[in-house]
Amino acid sequence: MGTIASSAQIDPRVASFLATPRKMLINGNWVDAVSGKTFPTYDPSTGEVLATVAEGDKADIDLAVKAARKAFESGPWHKMTASQRGRLIWKLGDLLDQHTVEFAYLESLDNGKPLTIARAADVPLAAELFRYMGGWATKIEGNTIPLSVPYTPGAKYLSYTLREPIGVVGQIIPWNFPLLMAAWKLGPALATGCTVVLKPAEQTPLSALRLGELIQEAGFPEGVVNIVPGYGETAGAALAAHMDVDKVAFTGSTEVGKTIVHAATGNLKKVSLELGGKSPNVIFKDADLDTAIPGAASAIFFNHGQCCCAGSRLYVEKPVFDRVVEGIAENAKKIQVGAGLDPATQMGPLVSEEQLNRVCGYLESGFSQGAKALAGGHKAADKGYFVEPTVLVDTSEQMKVVQEEIFGPVVVAMPFSDPEEIVERANDNVYGLAAGIWTKDISKAHRTAELIKAGTVWINCYNIFDAGLPFGGYKQSGWGREMGHEVLNNYTQTKAVCARI
Ligand code: NAI
Ligand code: MG
Repeated sequence: MGTIASSAQIDPRVASFLATPRKMLINGNWVDAVSGKTFPTYDPSTGEVLATVAEGDKADIDLAVKAARKAFESGPWHKMTASQRGRLIWKLGDLLDQHTVEFAYLESLDNGKPLTIARAADVPLAAELFRYMGGWATKIEGNTIPLSVPYTPGAKYLSYTLREPIGVVGQIIPWNFPLLMAAWKLGPALATGCTVVLKPAEQTPLSALRLGELIQEAGFPEGVVNIVPGYGETAGAALAAHMDVDKVAFTGSTEVGKTIVHAATGNLKKVSLELGGKSPNVIFKDADLDTAIPGAASAIFFNHGQCCCAGSRLYVEKPVFDRVVEGIAENAKKIQVGAGLDPATQMGPLVSEEQLNRVCGYLESGFSQGAKALAGGHKAADKGYFVEPTVLVDTSEQMKVVQEEIFGPVVVAMPFSDPEEIVERANDNVYGLAAGIWTKDISKAHRTAELIKAGTVWINCYNIFDAGLPFGGYKQSGWGREMGHEVLNNYTQTKAVCARI
């Protein structure tokens, strides 16, 4: 096993971060795991070890929850004004901006995504999210409510609601957007005054750990944010089941999401979930194909298809089907697949060997059921976890590749003849995270958007994210919403106060 992959090309701050075994953040201190164990994180473009990280498990989660509890119940965070909280969160966003390149390197190395993308999208979106949430800290308001109590005639009341932080929050995040997922989770929890134990994904713990250093630099009091890297079955499971955690927020697979719900029953902690998807992308024959074709390609190939909202089921109206799928296949064949740090790279490797095997397994399943590849269809290199951007045709609704989330650069394309029927087909899936609609007919666009059972519908665009736009799932794609002011509901609880005056 190698040490630091391609160290010659790496930003020196990143090289020194990788060269030292990374510790976990508990109660304002960087500490080793109680067990003393560490685990490796890999460079997915080579399969070589990138860095070693303290391996948290139940004992470390216990310490982190204790620190978060103390910080929530007493101490400076507890006493801070909303404005002071907001300023800290805003400052964290600004600090991230000052370290964009460094974070982009870490993200690219640990996850595999192109450096250029991490720099243009992941890091700035995370910084914006913090600033947006910083603004909310001073705007979390209750209501005054007129009462008309029938059994106390003539009595007067002053009644109002308080929206209070839910308390100690456990947050478990995935590897596809490691920094951005940390921001989506931390931003609203901090805006509302909660304290946090964050468990990053075992595949990609590095940017969250570096963010922990910026959290300290910004001036958050000790114990407000604790970061415990480790595996899902150990650290993650301990956090989800912990009796002193008031709420758990999870992003990841639907399968593990269900496990989280079970684990939460011990103390009936509140749960929010952002899970998988198999999002339909519908191109009508009257669409502007010059934008729909590259748009549909990017809907699936962005982040190597490792997006919960990837436009992975493509439905194209029959008269334009051949032109569209050929266009997307052409687009797929031109995508430069390579290591994230190579400036020519447009698509990096999948995150892990496990994901490589999972995606290749789906490809085999598709071929064995009669699907045909117009582009791609295979592993792309001997070394690293690369898969070719793939367009599958001759697919039908019963196939696994059409029903299940692949989470790789694989789109299944199917023609449709009846525009009335397409909504039914688009909705015929256990997931309901996102959908795309491409048409020049504005009435059709908005009528279809209303009928689609998904938390996000994009019209003549795809993968457009903003800190102000709520994101989350219908059906088995999850509970609750991320971002926007809606996410604040995940981290607050309402107290009704009623005074006789
Ligand atoms: P996963 O759901 O196992 O992992 C996500 C997070 O949950 C990680 O931090 C992991 O350590 C943690 N975790 C795993 N088991 C846990 C448990 N029993 N208790 C508490 N936490 C646990 O996802 P994985 O295995 O990395 O990917 C499998 C599939 O999940 C992918 O192929 C994709 O279909 C889906 N996925 C969806 C994501 C999304 O954004 N909605 C993100 C990542 C994966
Ligand atoms: Mg897993």
